[in-house]
Amino acid sequence: TLFQSEQGGHEQVVLCQDRASGLKAVIAIHSTALGPALGGTRFYPYATEEAAVADALNLARGMSYKNAMAGLDHGGGKAVIIGDPEKIKSEELLLAYGRFVASLGGRYVTACDVGTYVADMDVVARENRWTTGRSPENGGAGDSSVLTAFGVFQGMRASAQHLWGAPTLRGRTVGVAGVGKVGHILVEHLLEDGAQVVITDVREDSVRRITDKHPEITAVADTETLIRLPELDVYAPCALGGALNDGTVPVVTAKVVCGAANNQLAHPGVEKDLADRGILYAPDYVVNAGGVIQVADELHGFDFDRCKAKAAKIYDTTLAIFARAKTDGIPPAAAADRIAEQRIAEARGAL
Ligand code: NAI
Repeated sequence: TLFQSEQGGHEQVVLCQDRASGLKAVIAIHSTALGPALGGTRFYPYATEEAAVADALNLARGMSYKNAMAGLDHGGGKAVIIGDPEKIKSEELLLAYGRFVASLGGRYVTACDVGTYVADMDVVARENRWTTGRSPENGGAGDSSVLTAFGVFQGMRASAQHLWGAPTLRGRTVGVAGVGKVGHILVEHLLEDGAQVVITDVREDSVRRITDKHPEITAVADTETLIRLPELDVYAPCALGGALNDGTVPVVTAKVVCGAANNQLAHPGVEKDLADRGILYAPDYVVNAGGVIQVADELHGFDFDRCKAKAAKIYDTTLAIFARAKTDGIPPAAAADRIAEQRIAEARGAL
């Protein structure tokens, strides 16, 4: 059912249709307890309208947790536009979407996600004051991967501190799967810290961009090879979701998993399988929050140093999660959920 009484219950779900431009969108607001709901706009050819609604609800709920954990005064929301962006994306459609965002009067703040880009947000922003992820020329902060990578690196340092007693990857071997916008910057942080880095990517040019610059870095054929390397200390999934599943968890040699990819756990229960194998998992939505920290800051006039200071706190947050996991005897992913739920519940009580 759409109306639920427990944590899963959403505050508001809006169906948006503009016949002239062909826009069909769903805006889901999970919670505004901590502040205006913040989350990106996904543009995707969903097979059915039901699938689009389900995805919007799910993603909006995830944003409540991510924003709460990042210490932002924002609740969770997400929008999906139904259709193939290659075929139907147009200025008219984005402007129509922008007017729906405007109609919510600031209850929902939007940004980029899969299928939408900085240039699109520049168009959406023409219709409202609640669009982030814009280009610097339009008052935005631009590409968020710099701070995302920085935040993931902080999560990894915290993992090293928890497991090995020092907040550094010096002398450790780190495998980065996916060296795109975020992964390639993460590699630079790791090298600077004195780690050995092994990479893999399905794109030849992404790999070459790194190995040309840093010949000491080893590239392996695929992720299956990477996660089985006997010398691997840390595995950083930085490509797509679902990296941790029934096929990969039993063979991962690393003692730590910490990466940028969203939705790394393929299904509920994987977090326990990792813990049972003695693998320390730094929850994805905690360590990859640098991007959302950046877009939230845009609303207040972007300041890189202020954002970097906030993203640096991911180190303390990750350590606090590991400590809570130990105290409560639960996996870190469950501990993160508990801490986030607590913050949201406290805000609800204070309203
Ligand atoms: P990207 O598209 O620039 O990079 C992804 C890289 O992974 C590409 O180079 C691609 O070729 C590679 N890849 C795809 N499938 C692969 C496979 N099976 N094996 C190995 N490599 C593969 O994306 P970006 O922005 O770097 O994001 C990476 C992940 O981090 C995504 O899951 C994204 O949702 C997540 N994320 C990104 C944020 C950002 O600020 N860019 C913020 C929070 C999360």
